Amino acid sequence: MAISLDDVRDRYALPSVDQLLADLDAGETLPAPFYYAPEIHQLEQEKIFSKSWQYACHESAVAKPGDYAVTRAGAIPIIVTHGRDGQLRGFVNVCRHRLHSIAEENGNKPLLQCPYHGWTYGLDGKLKTAPRSQREPNFDCSTISLEPVSVERWDQWIFVNPDPNAAPLATVTADIRSRTDELNADLRDYEFQIRYEYDMECNWKLWAENAVECYHCPTLHSTSFGKTYHTSPDDYAIDSSDNTIWHAGPIKWLPTNVDPEGLKGFRFAFTFPSSFFALDDYVGFIGSIQPVGPQKSWAFVDMYAKPGADPIVVKEWLDMWDRTLIEDKRATDIQQIGYNSGRVRAGRLLLDSESPLQSFMRTAVTALSS
Ligand code: FES
Ligand SMILES: [Fe+2]
Repeated sequence: MAISLDDVRDRYALPSVDQLLADLDAGETLPAPFYYAPEIHQLEQEKIFSKSWQYACHESAVAKPGDYAVTRAGAIPIIVTHGRDGQLRGFVNVCRHRLHSIAEENGNKPLLQCPYHGWTYGLDGKLKTAPRSQREPNFDCSTISLEPVSVERWDQWIFVNPDPNAAPLATVTADIRSRTDELNADLRDYEFQIRYEYDMECNWKLWAENAVECYHCPTLHSTSFGKTYHTSPDDYAIDSSDNTIWHAGPIKWLPTNVDPEGLKGFRFAFTFPSSFFALDDYVGFIGSIQPVGPQKSWAFVDMYAKPGADPIVVKEWLDMWDRTLIEDKRATDIQQIGYNSGRVRAGRLLLDSESPLQSFMRTAVTALSS
C-alpha cells in the first residue's frame, strides 16, 4: 500500500514539511526517524530511488553489440544492454515469468535467457521464447517484454533511471556541467584499477552526507585524506545546489619529491541522490551508494589511475582512498547507533562547512513530500 510522508509524520511525531524545511534552514539536521524508520526507507524507494538518475557502469561494460551490464538503482535490479541495432537500452533485471533475475553478472550474449526456467528475451527486452509455452492455449510471447527503464550516457559513464519517462539527466546535472566537463575529459584517459565495495550498518543518507562535507577530514582522516589534501575551510572549496554538490582542494602531500604546486588537485562531484565521482592528478573514481534497508547500505567505488602516473603515488593513493572510505564507514555505522538511541532528536550543522548537507536534506524532504 502506498504511504505518504504525512502517514510517517503522524507515526513518528515529525513536524510538518514546512517546519522540517524551516528547521533545516536554521541549521538542524533531519530528525532521527529519517535515519531508521522502515516507512521512510519505503518512501525513499518510491519517491527517490525509483525515479532518479543513478550511475550504472562505464561505457566499456556495454561497448559491443550483445554486451550487457547489471547494476541496481536503489532496490531495483537493472540490466543495461547493447542491442544489435547499436542501441543502449535498460530494463528491470527481473523475469516476467516468476521474477528471477535475468543475469547476475556482466556478459555478452545474442539473447538473454533467464536461468530459472529458460524464458529467453532479445536485447530489446522482448520475450522470444518460453519453454512449453506452445502447450498453453492463450500464451503469446509477443505481448511480453522486460520492464523498460531510462538509460543515458554522461560522457563515458552510463546512468540509469528506473522511470521509463524520466526527464533528461541534463536537468539534474545542469548546475555542475561546466565543472564536470573538465573532470570527465581528464578521467576519460584514466585506466580502471579496482572496485572497492563497502557494506554499511547505517542508513544510506549518513554515508551520502559524509561524502558531501569535509569538516570531518582533518580529524577522521588525519592519516589518510586529511594528510593528502588541504582541507581547511580557506583551502577547500564547497558549493552546492539542489541536485549537485562540488568540492575542490589542493594536494598537500605526495609520497615522492613532486611539488604539489601546479597540480590540479582534488575535485569531486555529487549528484542527488547517490552518485559521485572525483579525481586528482593521479587517480580518479566513480561510485554510488545504495540503500539496502532502513539501517543498511552498500556502496561501490570504481577506481581509475592516470596512465603513466608515478606507480608509487598511484599505489599510495589507491590505498589512501580505501582507508579513507573504511574510516567513513566506521564513523557512519557509529552514527547510526546515535540516531537509534532516541535521545537526540536532531543534529546541528555548522553551515559554513556543512552547507551541502543542508541542500541534500532539503532535496530529500522535497522529494519525499512530493
Ligand atoms: S523466473 Fe524466469 S523463466 Fe521462470
Ligand atoms: Fe570522509
